[in-house]
Amino acid sequence: MKKVLGIIIASIMAVSASSAEEVIDNDLASTARLKNTMRKFATGLDQIQKGIIYNDRDKIEMGVRVLRQARKNFLKRHGETLKKQKPGDPKMAMYMAKKSAERIRKLVKMMSAEVHNTHDFSKIAAAYTGIFNQCVACHQKLRKNYAK
Ligand code: HEC
Repeated sequence: MKKVLGIIIASIMAVSASSAEEVIDNDLASTARLKNTMRKFATGLDQIQKGIIYNDRDKIEMGVRVLRQARKNFLKRHGETLKKQKPGDPKMAMYMAKKSAERIRKLVKMMSAEVHNTHDFSKIAAAYTGIFNQCVACHQKLRKNYAK
């Protein structure tokens, strides 16, 4: 009887240990996905900046495409991960994520429309700055160990 109990306890412990590992694995995977999206954002913005500076419309278009792809389903893909960045205030984290996703969406849309129609890239530059401000604002609030 003792032996059976021992086996049962051991297997319960094994199960709970493996599910704890799974939670950590899931967290790591979702953080990796978030970082991946973030790096796409950075690449897109970089291309847009270069495109404006070198007067290279194709480069701007490339950057806009990268941003458009990176922001797709942003909340659905990363909302839960972003909430975990602020365990004390997940509501604020979600609000922040929603707001910035919405603003980035609008500005990317505006850029897409402008880039075909103009040789005046000042509007593109303004949208670029608007998007960049969203990046910085969210990082200040949700990035761990940032600007304490
Ligand atoms: C809604 C919040 C939010 C917005 C908006 C946001 N970020 Fe981030 N970003 C984060 C968080 C949180 C991290 C930290 C992830 C980690 O290290 O776990 C991060 C990390 C990063 C990283 C580091 C990735 C790595 O590999 O370590 C880069 C680069 C980055 N963001 C770029 C951007 C750019 C560019 C934009 C704007 C287009 C942007 N982010 C907008 C929340 C955001």
